[in-house]
Amino acid sequence: MTDDTLPLTPDYDAWPIDADLDAVSFTPRLVTVRWSDGRVSRYHSIWLRENAGDETTVNPATRERILDLSALPAWPEVVEAEIDAAGALCVTFAPEDRRLRFHPGWLRANDYDNATDPEAPLVTVTTWQGGPGEGPDTLDASGLLDTDPASAAEEAILAPALESVLGKGLVRLRGLPTTPGSLAAIAQRIGPIRDTNFGGLFNVKAKPDPDSNAYTAIALPPHTDLPTREYHPGLQMLHCLENSVEGGQAVMLDGFAVAEALRERDPEAFATLTRVRWCYANTARTTDYVWFEPMIRLDARGELLEVRIADFLRGPLQTAFEDVEPAYEALMTLQRLLRDPAFAIRFTYAPGDLVIFDNRRLLHARDAFEGDSGHRWLQGCYMERDEIRSRYRMVQRARRQRRVSATV
Ligand SMILES: [Fe+2]
Repeated sequence: MTDDTLPLTPDYDAWPIDADLDAVSFTPRLVTVRWSDGRVSRYHSIWLRENAGDETTVNPATRERILDLSALPAWPEVVEAEIDAAGALCVTFAPEDRRLRFHPGWLRANDYDNATDPEAPLVTVTTWQGGPGEGPDTLDASGLLDTDPASAAEEAILAPALESVLGKGLVRLRGLPTTPGSLAAIAQRIGPIRDTNFGGLFNVKAKPDPDSNAYTAIALPPHTDLPTREYHPGLQMLHCLENSVEGGQAVMLDGFAVAEALRERDPEAFATLTRVRWCYANTARTTDYVWFEPMIRLDARGELLEVRIADFLRGPLQTAFEDVEPAYEALMTLQRLLRDPAFAIRFTYAPGDLVIFDNRRLLHARDAFEGDSGHRWLQGCYMERDEIRSRYRMVQRARRQRRVSATV
């Protein structure tokens, strides 16, 4: 690697250069750069040393770190810093006497000195209400399985779908095959399925000897699936193969919108539901899942992380004696909000539809249907939120790669 080509970055990503390095100054523990647009960024010497992309820091085959900082003879200090002919930042570190180069696009993308919210979601989260005429974002996905994986044609179908799921928690794809089992191949375009005791793919249809209310024709109240697990599945996919029954409309609500409404109208009830740990239990004939968790959880940033709501999967509340009545009061306030039609969207599945939704955010429900009026057959599966985030980051990487290629 010479100084007139840009150095490798410690990842597999592509980093377009939106601003050039203009000037650099340093002290032993700090490098300060000024960019061509006037921005000033500071980087600690220890941070730069750990995040170098060279082969003493990163295994070139895996792009994973091999450097153990504590094995260095002393705290890395800067003895020289300059901008080279390729526009990279070159830093010489003592006591190793090692000269390392940093890609300006990567440095700028990881500018923690100026970052306002480095853990911001990939897509802005927008809560939504329902009501008559409202429905999910709907996209034509016919031909998805004919595209090559990771191709631009696949991305054209998947990218807007991923954005809807990340931002609104829900998307409906139409025009997909109705072959039983085809959901596995469709889901794989995003990531691996999460297997559960109901199987990798499960069939939602009325069946004799059901092991879940889902497998009957009765109405289901708004719920998230499998709240009885420590990690309840992040995503659910429901793929319609047949639907000729009377009734059985799908109902969906944005649990984050309901939680925000509760926070606004009854802050005490909201606080109670983020604190009291309910029991979620699914004690079936051959399995026995139990987990304790608050009904509404916030993340470290104070943003809504998940709702865990399924009246038919709640076990007996086991909490502090004085919390019992406030907990039930808060629960009933939430339940009344859940019945408010202003929050719900209703739609009828058509064969070839696939609804993908965030199972830790959206609640789904179903009207009762006439079991002998026709056939209603959905196939479903679960996946983690990690998979959709990873897939969307790959979309973003491909977009950056195209920008880099266009400027070479
Ligand atoms: Fe369900």
